[in-house]
Amino acid sequence: PTPHIAVLGSANMDLVAYVTRAPRRGETVTGREFRTIPGGKGANQAVAAARAGATVSMIGAVGTDVFGARLRSTLEHSGVDTDLLRTVETPTGTAHIVVDDEGGNSIVVVPGANGTVKGLTPGDEALIASANALLLQLEIPAKGALAAARAARRHGVRTVLTPAPAQHLPDELLAATDLLLPNEHEAATLTGITDDPHAAARSLLSQVPEVVITLGSRGSLYAARGAEPVMVPAPRVTAVDTTGAGDTFAGTLAVALAEGRPVPDALTWASSAAALSVQRPGASASMPYRKEIDARAADPATTNGA
Ligand code: RIB
Ligand code: NA
Repeated sequence: PTPHIAVLGSANMDLVAYVTRAPRRGETVTGREFRTIPGGKGANQAVAAARAGATVSMIGAVGTDVFGARLRSTLEHSGVDTDLLRTVETPTGTAHIVVDDEGGNSIVVVPGANGTVKGLTPGDEALIASANALLLQLEIPAKGALAAARAARRHGVRTVLTPAPAQHLPDELLAATDLLLPNEHEAATLTGITDDPHAAARSLLSQVPEVVITLGSRGSLYAARGAEPVMVPAPRVTAVDTTGAGDTFAGTLAVALAEGRPVPDALTWASSAAALSVQRPGASASMPYRKEIDARAADPATTNGA
């Protein structure tokens, strides 16, 4: 059966400048191109999960402006249900992104409407209760994420938390999380351990039962209490824009796990989706559909990490 995934989180319009290299303080550089691309970690994970084949509902908020309308229609176009995406009298969140020639980025996020997502309505809770998994990230107030994780726990729904942007988390939020999905940098912020993902994962397992650390081009690491860790390499690709790669991984992984796939397969599938997304510009715009992910995951270059 098709899994049903609830996402509570941010929707941002990404205002992206493509440059040879990012400016230093006080410096002006000339960009090559400008694009407005729907993004925000919540909306990105929703689009990734929907394109990967799940039924997805998005809980969050956008403004009454043109960015809000475009974000809503992009989500709907990818098949995401937006009945619980509020429209509020606060400007839609924006992300001001500079992407350099190596595909790396720096980002300023202005939360706007996302800052109003501080709690759940009874409708939000009913939706979460009916889902197979809840996806959370931290571009909304921690209060809102905590309320959602607690609701999921009450109803026996698995919560997957991407602790991004990197920050310290309230203990209550970790206590209500089933699977924590940081990148290396976020794992280091949470544990103080750098350059040793296995040690960082072990440390995080004292607070959550399952951890996946994404390691960029080096792949991903799964660890769970009382089980052998699983390390899956990433396909080698040339990145043009890594914005949203972590969200692609999260949305796709959640679908694979909700379908009951074994962890190594789920990681390979999510890695394949992320690798496809970094080869195209933009966050949501670059996310692959299920067929492409299947084809990439079946390519021997993927499983060999070669
Ligand atoms: O994770 C990527 C997202 O983070 C971008 O789409 C941007 O909106 C930033 O918030
Ligand atoms: Na991309």
